[in-house]
Amino acid sequence: MDQAQLRHSLESTIPPPMLPLLHRIGGEGERRGIPVYLVGGVVRDLLMNALEREKSGSVSLPHGREEVVLNSPVVSRVPPAWDADLDLVTEGDAVAFARELAPLLSAAVKAHDRFGTATLTFPEGSHIDLTTARRESYSRPGALPVVELGASLEEDLFRRDFTLNAMAVRLGEPFGELIDPFGGRMDLRNGALRVLHPHSFIDDPTRIMRGARFEARFGFRMEPETRHLALEAVRDGRLETVTQDRLRRELMLGLEESSPWACAERWEDLGILRSLHPELRTEEDRLRRIADVLRWFASLRQKETPDRTLLYLTALLSPLPPPVAQEVCVEKLGLPPPKTERLVRCLEQGPNLAEAAPALDPPALTKRLKSEKLEVILYAAALDPSAWESLGAYFQVYRHTKLGFTGNDLLAQGYRPGPEFGAALEATLDEKLRGRLKTRRKEWEYLLAKLEEQGVTPSG
Ligand code: CTP
Repeated sequence: MDQAQLRHSLESTIPPPMLPLLHRIGGEGERRGIPVYLVGGVVRDLLMNALEREKSGSVSLPHGREEVVLNSPVVSRVPPAWDADLDLVTEGDAVAFARELAPLLSAAVKAHDRFGTATLTFPEGSHIDLTTARRESYSRPGALPVVELGASLEEDLFRRDFTLNAMAVRLGEPFGELIDPFGGRMDLRNGALRVLHPHSFIDDPTRIMRGARFEARFGFRMEPETRHLALEAVRDGRLETVTQDRLRRELMLGLEESSPWACAERWEDLGILRSLHPELRTEEDRLRRIADVLRWFASLRQKETPDRTLLYLTALLSPLPPPVAQEVCVEKLGLPPPKTERLVRCLEQGPNLAEAAPALDPPALTKRLKSEKLEVILYAAALDPSAWESLGAYFQVYRHTKLGFTGNDLLAQGYRPGPEFGAALEATLDEKLRGRLKTRRKEWEYLLAKLEEQGVTPSG
């Protein structure tokens, strides 16, 4: 693929206004002697899309001189590049460069001088992050890195997690050139995750969880040496050097993937689940059933949005007794107390509810569910699909069912307000929920009969 073809493919891939912007930024960098590169997951995803197209026979990935193919109308497992914010690295001061670019591009700039980073925000809301190329070192395993600015692109790429995330696309001249010092493209072709150096997982053990997440998302595997390093790091308790927040964040990211069960399976394989609790195993079916239930609930078109990740976390921890799951949430993950409470309630009440729901009559079901957390109801549904019918009826019918009148109508008929009102109205609603009062007139007659049973009659 020559430059003209490459240009063409870029133009057919990245929609306006991103492509001209990248050109412009590359050109401005060129004029100032600041090389600018596109980096990060976007480069990986673009290449992966191109590879998929190549597999389907429509385009070939270049072999000799590395030029990236950015011409993939995306029909694949990775998201289109332009859905993501774009990350750029500069060899030179990114903050000063971003400040100069902002007025030229009608963008707002937010800079963090100390970190050598700046974000450009464009009028339509998209962002581009610019970062000064950096070296990183770790004061102790698992800590956040100590950053040293002013590095080369290659050094910046070397600090990253896996070879397939350590590639860059040049935005200066020649625009679109792939820079791949560590063989990321080859690993990508082979579906292999490879760390850049043997200390990678010790420096940052969250990378083991990221690795598992990429394995699950792309159907890739860690190459043998990387897998060995990951297993060794987990066995040596390296994950315990990571803060609760970082561990939780990684776990949640995995559960937000489109196939969280695949992630959980990789976590189990790498010993990550065991490091959370020795008894923890993947319940693949249960995780999959959460997905079924979420689809089912979406089809009911209700106004509430369930906490999907919390449901998956509940299913993940469900092999543990509820008090032990609670301990994992608090001690290992630092899950906020309201979420922990909800998760434990799912585990404790979900099985009862799943068992009880199909046998409850509509009024009893409505009373039981009205005061219940949505996630508990959905978790119960995941445990037993035979409960779907009654739970669905609650969401779609029962909870919206109302009488055709209120206490005020009774007052208007000369009844004196009293405690019997509430009970009679409730009994009438229950009867309506049982489907025995088909008309407003029948409801009214039933209500009056209930009041009369209690000796309440209109005065005057
Ligand atoms: N990175 C890393 N080590 C980490 C986290 C991130 O080396 N613990 C690097 C990777 O090179 C990654 C980049 O920082 O590509 C950006 O990180 P992030 O946005 O979290 O990841 P993406 O690769 O974009 O992944 P995703 O598709 O999940 O957003």
